Amino acid sequence: MIDEQIPKEEQHENPISRRYFLEIVGGGAIGVAATGGVILTAQFLSPNVLLEPSTKFKAGTIENYPPGSVTLNKEQKVFIVRAREGYLYAVSAVCTHLGCIVNWKPEEGTIACPCHGSKFDKEGNVLDGPAPRPLLRFAMMLDEQGQIIVDKGAIVGEEVILKV
Ligand code: FES
Repeated sequence: MIDEQIPKEEQHENPISRRYFLEIVGGGAIGVAATGGVILTAQFLSPNVLLEPSTKFKAGTIENYPPGSVTLNKEQKVFIVRAREGYLYAVSAVCTHLGCIVNWKPEEGTIACPCHGSKFDKEGNVLDGPAPRPLLRFAMMLDEQGQIIVDKGAIVGEEVILKV
């Protein structure tokens, strides 16, 4: 009916009427807006959770650590120390000065930082600066299978050890 109002020559040039074209474009715009609204609503309603990796890691069994040993777990940047008396504890290998990775020096019996020369004993206490604080110590436990679990999210004092 509307097509009849458009001059004949224009109808031949445009097989789609202006109204029909505007209906399609308008419908498409409404569809895009509605889809966007649904997506935004779904994002708003879904929980905004940041999944972080676990702070716990498995460190093998007691047999991996002979008495009197200091073993670096490079991946986790943690020393597993087994005292001559048999108990274990975990010491961070991250220097408390500026965060360099420290090294165990068995010939000196110390943990040394290659960056600015700080030294620590194997309990993590500062022997030489500029490190301002002892190395962090982490909680340890045994699971049901006898695996040692270290929790880097649980910082403990020097008095906390894993008795085996
Ligand atoms: S980062 Fe270890 S002494 Fe500076």
